[in-house]
Amino acid sequence: MGNVHELNHPLLQHKLSILRDKNTGVKEFREVVGEIAALMCYEATRDLPTEEVEIETPIAMAKCRCLAGKKLAIVPILRAGLGMVDTIISLIPSAKVGHIGLYRDPRTHEPVKYYCKMPPDISERRVFVVDPMLATGGSASDAITFIKEYGCKSITLMDIIAAPEGIARVQKDHPDVDIFVAAVDEKLNENAYIVPGLGDAGDRIFGTK
Ligand code: PRP
Ligand code: URA
Repeated sequence: MGNVHELNHPLLQHKLSILRDKNTGVKEFREVVGEIAALMCYEATRDLPTEEVEIETPIAMAKCRCLAGKKLAIVPILRAGLGMVDTIISLIPSAKVGHIGLYRDPRTHEPVKYYCKMPPDISERRVFVVDPMLATGGSASDAITFIKEYGCKSITLMDIIAAPEGIARVQKDHPDVDIFVAAVDEKLNENAYIVPGLGDAGDRIFGTK
């Protein structure tokens, strides 16, 4: 079973309270989503392997450690996942970016796929799937299934807010995937929105409501 890492860092809690506030405007919402993504990326990449390199500083030779092993890919689930990409690739500039377009059917709440474009060498990369919201888990589970069809073996999911139902769904469908979340909320409502959540992440990032 994949591990669930709930990151209760004070900075994340503070920034989450800004996202949850219905009076937070688009500009600040978008900025804070990016800031949270960067903080979460710091934790989710804690186990990346490193190798020793020798560097000449202006003073002396120094044994340092650089990233080693598998290269990385970031895969946002469109649209809202896009809000997490820029700050993550500013920390990991060599990461490639794949895109999966999914929207939830408003009646059934089932994900509908409309776009998929992956880097050609995605199967050799460690993949971080990013999306602010894990509600029923249908979108994340389908996205991970699509990515596995490319031969990817190492996949991590990063969501800002998760419902217990979404975590359970991903753990059942993809027991090999670790999940990083900033908060696990109480439940889903009758429209499959997370309670208390933050509303519709895509609409709040892109100002479409
Ligand atoms: C939201 C969110 C997730 C999905 C979560 O996207 O960004 O992708 O819902 O719900 P689930 O866990 O029940 O599948 P949405 O479908 O609203 O599309 P958008 O990002 O384009 O707004
Ligand atoms: N998608 C969102 O954007 N918010 C929710 O609460 C659930 C799904």
